[in-house]
Amino acid sequence: MNLEINREQLLSEIDALASISDAEPPAVTRIVFTATDLKARAWLRSRCEQAGLAVRQDPIGNTFARWAGSDPAAPAVGTGSHMDAIPNAGKYDGVLGVLGGLEALRALRRAGFQPRHSVELLLFTAEEPTRFGIGCLGSRMLSACLSPEAARKLADAEGRSLEEVRRVAGMVGPLEQVSLAEGYYRAFVELHIEQGPLLEQRQIPVGVVTRIAAPATARIVIEGDGGHAGGVLMADRHDALCAAAELILAIEQTARGSGATDTVATVGTCEVFPGAVNSIPSRVRLTADVRDTDLARRDAVIRAIEQAARKISATRKVAVQTDLLNADAPADCDPMVVEAIIESCRKHQFSFIPMVSRAYHDSLFMSRIAPTAMLFIPCRHGYSHRPDEYASPQDIARGTLVLAEALAKLSS
Ligand code: GLV
Ligand code: MN
Ligand code: MN
Repeated sequence: MNLEINREQLLSEIDALASISDAEPPAVTRIVFTATDLKARAWLRSRCEQAGLAVRQDPIGNTFARWAGSDPAAPAVGTGSHMDAIPNAGKYDGVLGVLGGLEALRALRRAGFQPRHSVELLLFTAEEPTRFGIGCLGSRMLSACLSPEAARKLADAEGRSLEEVRRVAGMVGPLEQVSLAEGYYRAFVELHIEQGPLLEQRQIPVGVVTRIAAPATARIVIEGDGGHAGGVLMADRHDALCAAAELILAIEQTARGSGATDTVATVGTCEVFPGAVNSIPSRVRLTADVRDTDLARRDAVIRAIEQAARKISATRKVAVQTDLLNADAPADCDPMVVEAIIESCRKHQFSFIPMVSRAYHDSLFMSRIAPTAMLFIPCRHGYSHRPDEYASPQDIARGTLVLAEALAKLSS
C-alpha cells in the first residue's frame, strides 16, 4: 500500500478552519454551539461528504463520518477529536485530530485500502469546558460517564440550559440516545499536539501515549460583605476577593507540595462581584482545575483545598461553598492500540517515546468503552491554549501518516 499524505491540502484545511473564529487572527475562539461553531461544523460535514463518508450527528452534536468496512456489522475503528477552541486559543488543539483523521482516511482510500471494520471519524462536542463548565461533554455522554439527567442540569454563564442551547443549535432527539453500546468500537485512536515541550526538547517526532491524566474541577463561591471602599474601615471588612487571593495561593501551594511532577492545579477563572473600583468585593466565583496521573494523589490535593477553604472561611468570616463539577479517573491506554501506533512508527523509521498525557482528551472517556490510545506530535515550545500554538508541516504530515497506518492495521 502506497500511503501518501496530502500535506498541502491538510494545511490549507487547518488554515480554513482557523478562519472560522470569533477572535482576531492568529487567535482562534470557537465556543460550542455558537454561530461560529455551527459554521465550522457545517464546513467539516461538507469536507467529509466530499471525501465520500456518510455523516450522522447524535443529539448532543457528536458527529460521525463513516467509511463502511467490508464487514459493516463488525465493530468500527474510530479516530477524531474536537474543534471547539477556548477563548484566545491556537489553531491545532483538537483540530489536528479531526482534520488529520480526515486526511488519514482519504489517504487510505487513495491508496486503495479496503477496511474490514468500518472506520469512523469523530468530531466530539465541547471537549473544552468553556461554556458548560465541564470538559469532554460529548465523549462523556458517549461513554455514559455523564447521564442525560446530569447533562440536563447544565447551564452556561448566562443561565441558558444545555437543553435549550443545543435545540436552538439544531441538535434534536433525546439525550438518552447518545451513549454508545460497549463494543461499538473495536479501537479508538486520537492524534493530538503534545501541548507540552518534551518531544521538541528531545527532537522526537512521535509520542505514544500510555496514560492520560484526569482532571477534577471545583467551582468555589466565596461570600463576604460588600460596602463602600472609603467608608468601611479595614478592621471591619470581610472582603471576598482577599479571601479568594488567600485560597488561590493555597491551591498553588498544595499542588506544589504534592511531591510529584504530574500534580498540577490552576485557578483559571475568577469573577468578582459587584466589580466596581470603589466597592468592596462581596462575592467571588472561581474555578480550580486539579490534575494528576494518580487518582489518590489528585484526590488528596482536592481534600487539602477543601480544608484550606474551611480555614480561610473561619479566619476571615466569609462563607465558602465548594462544589466538585467533575472528578474523573485517569486512564491507561490499550496495549493493542499502542502497539499499532508503535508498528506504524517503526515501519516509517520515525523515532518515538512513550509518554503520559497531562492534558485530558476525549480519549480519556473513549477509553471507558473502547481500547484506546493516542499519539502526539511536537508543538513549538510546548505552547498550547494560546494563539502562537504551532506544529510544523513535517510533524503534522508524519503524525497523520502514523495515524493512517495504525487505522489500516486496526481495521484490517
Ligand atoms: C483540554 O483542553 C485540557 O484542558 O486538558
Ligand atoms: Mn484544549
Ligand atoms: Mn485538545
